[in-house]
Amino acid sequence: MSEKQSIMDIDTVSLDESDHSIVIIDQTLLPYETKTIHLTSQKQIWDAIYTLQVRGAPAIGVTAGFGMYLAAREIAEKADSFDDFYTAFKKAEDYLDSSRPTAVNLSWALKQMDKVALANRDKSLPEVVEALHQESVRIQEEDIRACHKLGEYGLTLVKPGDGLLTHCNAGKLAATRYGMATAPMYLGQEKGYGFHVYCDETRPVLQGARLTARELMDSGIDTTVICDNMVSSLMKEGKIQAVFVGCDRVAANGDTANKIGTSGVAIIAKHYGVPMYIMAPTSTIDMNTKTGDEIHIEQRNPDEVTEMWYKRRMAPEGVKVYNPAFDVTDHELITAIVTEFGIARAPYTESLKQMMERKAEAGRQQ
Ligand code: MRU
Repeated sequence: MSEKQSIMDIDTVSLDESDHSIVIIDQTLLPYETKTIHLTSQKQIWDAIYTLQVRGAPAIGVTAGFGMYLAAREIAEKADSFDDFYTAFKKAEDYLDSSRPTAVNLSWALKQMDKVALANRDKSLPEVVEALHQESVRIQEEDIRACHKLGEYGLTLVKPGDGLLTHCNAGKLAATRYGMATAPMYLGQEKGYGFHVYCDETRPVLQGARLTARELMDSGIDTTVICDNMVSSLMKEGKIQAVFVGCDRVAANGDTANKIGTSGVAIIAKHYGVPMYIMAPTSTIDMNTKTGDEIHIEQRNPDEVTEMWYKRRMAPEGVKVYNPAFDVTDHELITAIVTEFGIARAPYTESLKQMMERKAEAGRQQ
């Protein structure tokens, strides 16, 4: 695939029924090379999540759903009974769950698949596998619908010509189609809003510079990359009217884990009176986690900080490196949490509960 091909024309994650594989865009190669790869074994899927070939909370969830379907196909061929099947299925589930800790979408998708397996335990194994197939597709479709709704709600919070800031990549490459933080940007673009979007480069893995900038530019949006330490300068100049970011886990009180640096952006935004919006599909809201203190923050390889993007190492050999992949933005710093069921505002313990009730109600009506 050529460098010129629009990233918007390729699915971030999809299921290839012909060779029973998951097809992903290898995001470690972006922005230079746009290449899709096929994952078949559980080890390949685990590695792809761990090494960030596929990343972003919703995309990880969708990959996990497809991964469990593929695991179920293989396991069912050798199993004699449901119990036999389920023991191996559960093992595969625990294995995938160990690939990354912070994004709740991973364990959420695995739990969904587990529920479906158990709900079909009285059926034949091929029927169980088919039910899991359908559930994995449904998880992806739900993500696409949720992203579009987030965009519609998000668009009501801004006006044509606004300057918008985003951190990390909570775009199409982190999900499917519209993305989360980018959803109002893409919908606005379709309506001729003429936004100016600033992307934090997002050290140390540069998801903002490499991924968000690439997808926004491919969509024809006016895009500017800034270093992470330039946010306050831009806000002081009045260039940013709103911040839209994604999230990896939202606690019941509204505390939100997202890419490292997000909480700093929120503190600066509060100082300059710029609204800070978290774009959160309900699959990312974890009502079992009471506050941000309970969120497990992934620590990553020190080389990401000292060597990854440099011709020569940029820190003395042997120096200690602190490299958390996420931080928690306190709920007091968040103007609103936008979900596919509406816009939640403080007090979040109440409003998020209401969003989850709307979701349960929508599920009952289906
Ligand atoms: O380490 P990553 O690239 O998986 O981190 C991604 C983020 O922090 C995103 O902002 C988050 O997953 C939200 S994506 C809708």
